[in-house]
Amino acid sequence: MNSSDSIQAIAIIPAAGIGSRMKAEIPKQYLQCAGHPIIWHSLARFQNCQWIQKIYVPLADDDPYWEELIGTEFNKVITLTGGDSRAQSVMNALDRASDDYQENTWVFVHDAARPCLGEEDLELLKSELLKNIKPGVILVNKVNDTVKSVNDNGVIQSTIDRTSLWCALTPQVFPLGILRLALAQTEPAKITDEASAIELTGAEPIVLQGNSRNIKVTRPEDLELAELYLSKMNNE
Ligand code: CTP
Ligand code: MG
Repeated sequence: MNSSDSIQAIAIIPAAGIGSRMKAEIPKQYLQCAGHPIIWHSLARFQNCQWIQKIYVPLADDDPYWEELIGTEFNKVITLTGGDSRAQSVMNALDRASDDYQENTWVFVHDAARPCLGEEDLELLKSELLKNIKPGVILVNKVNDTVKSVNDNGVIQSTIDRTSLWCALTPQVFPLGILRLALAQTEPAKITDEASAIELTGAEPIVLQGNSRNIKVTRPEDLELAELYLSKMNNE
């Protein structure tokens, strides 16, 4: 690899959530899926990517599962304590990463609960970053269903034109310094992805269409789908 096709990059994989919508007995990132905990697959993708230098993983303060299920298996991983919201967990990881990495380091933020990220999507993001795009780039998927606005009583108010609608996936990639500044200016509980924080500063991240297998395991039926995708990906 020569300098023109390399980037300075680290990952943050927030894993401090409890997975309330999953309604399982343990946080969803630790549920078994295709032979390993969900988070194991997310970590393995970044561990095996040679141009990712470190993986910062915010965990819940009292997490009893990490030690037993993951422990020291991945040598790029640094764990730390997360926060009350996803954004706060990411912020804590950025604070830690700032001790060792400069402001222009690319930070790939990826949900622990997205175990089906393909290698080709990581490479797609990297090739975009090599063009030195600013302020950053996120993976997205086209909204395929018709979208309704519905009031609290379950009554449809309108149908929203979906032609410009995209679902935000992860990874979402921004320079460490820019992301840290943007998150510091937001109310962490109010944002659910990194791009929103960047958008609020007036900057305009770009999107790349990713593979739709890269689902977030949110509800019990998502686990079945993730299991199917992972077994297919492992055989490809
Ligand atoms: N997350 C985090 N810190 C929090 C909340 C969420 O690090 N305080 C992480 C989750 O562990 C997950 C990712 O952010 O990997 C995406 O969040 P989500 O899918 O909403 O997970 P949970 O918040 O755990 O699930 P739920 O909203 O159903 O409770
Ligand atoms: Mg949540």
